Amino acid sequence: MCGIVGYIGNKKAEPILINGLYKLEYRGYDSAGIATIEKDAIKNIKNKGRVSDLEKTDGIENLEGTIGIAHTRWATHGKPSSINSHPHLDNSKHFAVVHNGIIENYADLKAFLEKQNYTFLSDTDTEIIPNLIHYNFVQDKKDDNFKFLRAVKNACYMLKGSYAIEVISDYFKDEMIVVRKDSPLVIGKGINENYISSDIPAILSYTKDFYLLNDNEFAKLTRENIEFFDENLVKLEKAPINISWNPLAAEKDGYEDFMLKEIYEQPRAIRETIWAHLPEISKCQMDELNFSKEYLEGLEKIYLVACGTAMHACLVAKNMLENICEIPAEVDVASEFRYRNPLINSKTLCIFVSQSGETADTIAALKLSKSKGAKTVAISNVSGSSITREADYTIYTHAGPEIAVASTKAYTSQIALLAVLTIYFAEILERNPVQVSNLKEELYCLPEKITDTLKCSNRVKSFAQKVYKEKDIFFLGRGVDYAASLEGSLKLKEISYIHSEAYASGELKHGPIALIEDGVTVVSVITTPSLVGKSISNIQEVITRGAKTFIITNQDLEGHTFDEVISIPKTSSYVSPILSIIPLQLFAYYISKEKGLDVDKPRNLAKSVTVE
Ligand code: M6R
Repeated sequence: MCGIVGYIGNKKAEPILINGLYKLEYRGYDSAGIATIEKDAIKNIKNKGRVSDLEKTDGIENLEGTIGIAHTRWATHGKPSSINSHPHLDNSKHFAVVHNGIIENYADLKAFLEKQNYTFLSDTDTEIIPNLIHYNFVQDKKDDNFKFLRAVKNACYMLKGSYAIEVISDYFKDEMIVVRKDSPLVIGKGINENYISSDIPAILSYTKDFYLLNDNEFAKLTRENIEFFDENLVKLEKAPINISWNPLAAEKDGYEDFMLKEIYEQPRAIRETIWAHLPEISKCQMDELNFSKEYLEGLEKIYLVACGTAMHACLVAKNMLENICEIPAEVDVASEFRYRNPLINSKTLCIFVSQSGETADTIAALKLSKSKGAKTVAISNVSGSSITREADYTIYTHAGPEIAVASTKAYTSQIALLAVLTIYFAEILERNPVQVSNLKEELYCLPEKITDTLKCSNRVKSFAQKVYKEKDIFFLGRGVDYAASLEGSLKLKEISYIHSEAYASGELKHGPIALIEDGVTVVSVITTPSLVGKSISNIQEVITRGAKTFIITNQDLEGHTFDEVISIPKTSSYVSPILSIIPLQLFAYYISKEKGLDVDKPRNLAKSVTVE
């Protein structure tokens, strides 16, 4: 949550920072601000609202500085307002800070600083940071090249919580200090210029060489140089990594919204994710993992842990792992898992799924599992993200940058990769070869089948135009179709703001059916052959009570009447949500468009949830 960007070089910083903020806006869009070092002082311009509002703010066009920091905010402490926007300055106005994260002991530190006669303008936790830096700066009687860095380090020593911080000072016109702990921050290396960002795509058009900071590491940047330090300011050596993503992958490429573009990218995303590990004919290859048959045979349980959409992908994988690999699998929400003292030992394998690789709860759950002796596997879409640096092993989805807050191609890629992982385990274990070979066949056919499924777009749009004003929309499904329904319902609520719930169809009569009344829309996913009859009976029960029905199916439902039926290609039940979710993604998308909402940046949400 919150995006930070920084520049130090010989060009005017302002347009580079604004451009970076636009790309990071998915991380929060309550307010935005920018601070640059001008001839005689730090100039700080900030505003409530979006980056486009900041761009129109008086004075921004006059910023000439070649060093600057900028921020787009997802409000935690203090409501969205100009005064609570970042950057924040200390009382002397010589230090400016942008911060992504939460300072948990800010109240104590504020009281401490107030006793030293510091005053505060905002309600944020962040404003204590520049003041702590100033406090430590004036306490430090040593005068050397590291005075600025030392002040930041000593201030950070007093902080509890999570932070990615950029600091500039007009006392040090050719330096920038950055640090991270439990919040993302990357450094892009240029020629006589360097960049900072919360993520790689935001600055990918300027450089492909990146340094990744680990927790509690500091960097001191000048135009020509980047020096790295550990928490005790002992110097560190770091090698840059080269990122091969095409910067255009983070552009809309002619689509009206990132979400629509990302929905249509799914054939490619799935193809690349599958082919990276599953070459035709030969056995599944996962060089990143080195599990022996003995280790896998000894496993008592696999935990799949994630949040939101990634957790829904895990629900789909549970069936595959249990039926094909014959290993009990349990799915858990990371925020619950981390606090419920789960039974974990060396015979437990824990898999953590996170598109961004920066979700605070998922990372904490991983650390907990490691501390209890389990092996940990991270599944992420972002190279070098925090989770990949904590896990014992990492495997990547190849979805490419996902910018829209509502996850689409990352979800289907996660299911595809979990299917490949299932095959990898089953081949080592030599279990269920016929199922393995069928699943492989199906995976290869998926990209083409996704392309076919996308042809339903116009019909889905027409139905969306009929129901977009509704207050409640319900989703029903059984088995893997229930998992897809949960994801369809999440997509709808997050971008259309329509209240929506997904129920396991069999649960309907145990309460939820009381909500069904004349005209209410019920969406149902029906793809599991053995459950068709039962699912149809449940739909009949809601039709009898006046519901309008929208059915996604790969079965022949002739003889039954529904308001709209979207037919999708048949595939293995293990991975059918990769196809059945597509009409549901489009449904949410077109409802949101019909309501005139911002599809890519829904209210109150942010792409990466880096705080608890
Ligand atoms: O980056 P992650 O996969 O860890 O994110 C997890 C959730 O925050 C994310 O899937 C969220 O639910 C999406 N906005 C759903 O579209």
